[in-house]
Amino acid sequence: MNCLLLAGRADGARVDTLAGLGTHADPHPVQEAFMAEYAFQCGFCLPGMILSAVTLLESTPSPSDAEIRDALSGNLCRCTGYVNAVRAVRRAAGR
Ligand code: FES
Repeated sequence: MNCLLLAGRADGARVDTLAGLGTHADPHPVQEAFMAEYAFQCGFCLPGMILSAVTLLESTPSPSDAEIRDALSGNLCRCTGYVNAVRAVRRAAGR
């Protein structure tokens, strides 16, 4: 969402970033799932997709593929399909 939201509109809100999610030594389960499914995107899309997936799984632990695609739809990647990303979110949901 950081690409879609003016910084001033986040004033007073909690802001999570990929840098605060996991580490190389101890990645977040969603980060592990994206690596396992080769769901690689550019440096703009990948953080947005991972954080969108984390947010989705917090509210919907077992999402349908349609719910996953809807959650990722705010990331406007023009490069690839979202097949591996959807698979990664599905894998993370199974943990
Ligand atoms: S991977 Fe980022 S624009 Fe496509």
